[in-house]
Amino acid sequence: MEDLRQKYIGMIATASDESALESVRLTAIGKKGEIALAMRELGRMTPEERQTAGPRLNALKDEITSALAARKEALTDAALDERLRGEWLDVTLPGRRRGVEPGTIHPVSQVWEECTAIFADMGFAVAEGPQVETDFYNFDALNIPSHHPARGEMDTFYMHRDAGDERPPHVLRTHTSPVQIRSLQAQGAPIRIIAPGRVYRADYDQTHTPMFHQIEGLAIDRDISMANLKWVLEEFFTAYFGTSVKTRFRASHFPFTEPSAEVDIQCSWVDGQVRVGEGDGWLEVLGSGMVHPHVLRSSGVDPDQWQGFAFGMGIDRIAMLKYGLPDLRAFFDSDLRWLRHYGFSPLQVPTLHGGI
Ligand code: PHE
Repeated sequence: MEDLRQKYIGMIATASDESALESVRLTAIGKKGEIALAMRELGRMTPEERQTAGPRLNALKDEITSALAARKEALTDAALDERLRGEWLDVTLPGRRRGVEPGTIHPVSQVWEECTAIFADMGFAVAEGPQVETDFYNFDALNIPSHHPARGEMDTFYMHRDAGDERPPHVLRTHTSPVQIRSLQAQGAPIRIIAPGRVYRADYDQTHTPMFHQIEGLAIDRDISMANLKWVLEEFFTAYFGTSVKTRFRASHFPFTEPSAEVDIQCSWVDGQVRVGEGDGWLEVLGSGMVHPHVLRSSGVDPDQWQGFAFGMGIDRIAMLKYGLPDLRAFFDSDLRWLRHYGFSPLQVPTLHGGI
């Protein structure tokens, strides 16, 4: 019986696939297998012999049965491993290009997103207005009447009007400030918004293009002050530049704010490169002030009840400062080599205090 055991356990261990295993099963414990034959022999034994041989044969049959099952499982696992090794698919591989290069994010879009994320962390919602504005929203409502010199200074693009066309004049908005009026009219006070967008002025040199980008800020409530303005801006610059940045407020004049201030940020120049947040130089980046009572009134807000600040910042300007882009005109030349050099992918958006 020990010979039988050795033989079959050995055969099971070396069976290399399921059909080999099945034929071992048949010859060992099948109906006409060797164990069945041996069982039949029991009849010819003495009762004593049968008493020891019977249980041993049954035990051997059980042992072979479970060895077969174990070997079968091992063979199945091995077959699965083999398939997994042969049939894998890397779903993280990039797709096949279809004749087009993958795109990058334009630096202006990147900075636009960065600014929006930082102000959103401070509770500012995003507002929008049209790029073709009436002269009411672009000028009059902002306390710039038609005789005001500021209209001339802004190098405004006017929309063409045929003779006899009586519609009010339309302009390409020269700043994002008209969104202050539109948002206040729509929503009233209190309000806390930013308005990023395109603006237009007839100007062209290394630091001016006829189309550029601004981000307007507006916060109106019962007792908002210049101190809140200064805090919000310093918080913004620190998050945006990733280092603490001193600001300098210079008294200035805008018809739609009183008092008004132009804001500079601290910087130094090293080998012609600007470094923000260090040194004792200053760079102007925005105009700001307390919203003029006339502006509140023309938006339907009572200046005896409400007050607050507004600011307007150049997005392109702060993009140049952060990413060291020397010539503003290149932003809008659609030169793919420039975009490949300076473009971003994927979006990197900084937030205050490491984000939410
Ligand atoms: N609109 C101004 C400009 O374009 C900037 C500004 C906005 C100033 C809001 C004060 C308040 O120059």
